[in-house]
Amino acid sequence: MARDFRSGNVMVGVIGAGAMGRGIAQVTITGGMTALLYDAADGAAAAARSFIFGMLDRAVDKGRMGADEAAAAKDRLQVVDGLDAMADAEVVIEAIVENLDVKRAVFADLERAVGDDAILASNTSSLRIAAIAAGCERKQRVAGLHFFNPVPLMKLVEVVRAPATDDDVVAALDALGRRMGRVPVVVRDGPGFLVNLGGRAFTTEGLRLAHEGIATPAQVDAVMRDACGFRMGPFELMDLTGIDVNFPASMAIYNGYFQDRRMATYPLHESLREAGRLGRKTGQGHYRYDGKGGKIADSADADISAEPARRVALAEAHEGLEKLLREAGAAVIEDDGACPVLAAPLGEDATAVAVRTGADARRLVAVDLTGDIGRRLTIMSAPGADPAQRDRVAALLAGTGAAVTAIHDSPGFIAQRMRAMVANLGCEIAQIGVAAPADIDTAMTLGLNYPLGPLALTDEMGADTVLAILGHLQRITGEERYRPSQWLRRRALLGLPATTPD
Ligand code: NAI
Repeated sequence: MARDFRSGNVMVGVIGAGAMGRGIAQVTITGGMTALLYDAADGAAAAARSFIFGMLDRAVDKGRMGADEAAAAKDRLQVVDGLDAMADAEVVIEAIVENLDVKRAVFADLERAVGDDAILASNTSSLRIAAIAAGCERKQRVAGLHFFNPVPLMKLVEVVRAPATDDDVVAALDALGRRMGRVPVVVRDGPGFLVNLGGRAFTTEGLRLAHEGIATPAQVDAVMRDACGFRMGPFELMDLTGIDVNFPASMAIYNGYFQDRRMATYPLHESLREAGRLGRKTGQGHYRYDGKGGKIADSADADISAEPARRVALAEAHEGLEKLLREAGAAVIEDDGACPVLAAPLGEDATAVAVRTGADARRLVAVDLTGDIGRRLTIMSAPGADPAQRDRVAALLAGTGAAVTAIHDSPGFIAQRMRAMVANLGCEIAQIGVAAPADIDTAMTLGLNYPLGPLALTDEMGADTVLAILGHLQRITGEERYRPSQWLRRRALLGLPATTPD
């Protein structure tokens, strides 16, 4: 029976004093508990202690922590020199090298070192908790406690329940996470747990757009930031986390879900890894970086130097588009055979719109009216279209004050398909029971800094709209990648909120 960690001192063993272990030790002591910190490398734990003390001193200097409080926290950090020193630990958190054999060996040694009731938790990102527990006598005490980097700043912690994990172990780790000032979310053991799985849609659909030559990384990132409120676009994010980290993670999750195409990545991802273009840390990834870390990118903005179109026609009636065009200063007329013809499709590409409406594909310019169109508008046209017509529309739309991005033909432009994929994967995570619906949004907003969680996003876009966008994508591409989650489909058809339980 695991102890109640909600109050009093708790003896917390932390194994591994690297980037993660030192953060875990820090939030342990600032949470009023004792940390026993061990690292196999000589001097590593002592170096981590100096680092943590420096962080606490800085918090005091900045007035975020009292001097007495910091001193008391420092007193609760003990550097130890072996697993035997963990004998009194009530819970041990392992944050060593990401290698299953090494972790298994450490867990077996730990079982001999600690008491029968001690909980053993791993901070692994990509290994199954069940696989780490496989060599343990008492598998019911083994769970995941997955923090995010940098630990003191990232509020989320995933409490990972393996098939053998006891309920009271999960409850105890949930309480421990709260004591550490984190927001715990209970998730099921499986590839990528929750956040790393949920994050696949954003990066891989960005890669898909680049793979097909629809848009450049700079264009995709600008649209996701400006029109969709993400702090970073998918390519900026991949360059920050490192291609050597996110490519293998993508492959592990894709294969872990038995090649579910919704999680597939694209060759560009592997090409960068093979070329050693790993992102910011190597000065080159999807982007290049100057000596000071500044990103060097092509412009995401369309050429707006053409004479703006002043008379435009619509491929089909659309109130919102008509209003936007008038605001931009154009007269909306019957097609005169020479003017640009505009449309605002949901999920269709310009080619499909031209075929369906009979509009002249050479003059057709499609505009994405989803997202924050006051900041950035996306336009696209079909193959063979007259670039001069597109440029005149770009110049016209720039008159609204929004930036304009011009891309190649795409079902769902950039924003629609990126957001539909994020929403759909969130729905699928709910469907397969990785976590409770409300926790999915909490985890994705705290763990990935998304402006809103995938289920809230589904409701904001409208579940029926997301379903329609995916339906077009699936039909136009013929690909399983775009198949809607049954969770999404049922709630869209029944008009229910995305968080409605089964
Ligand atoms: P790191 O390389 O910064 O630190 C690992 C530390 O473990 C090193 O100091 C090393 O000397 C020590 N170590 C290795 N084998 C040991 C052993 N047998 N006994 C004791 N100490 C040992 O690694 P990092 O980034 O802190 O990652 C640690 C764990 O946390 C990994 O499982 C990783 O997947 C996971 N993780 C990492 C995240 C990140 O962003 N870096 C995020 C979430 C989880």
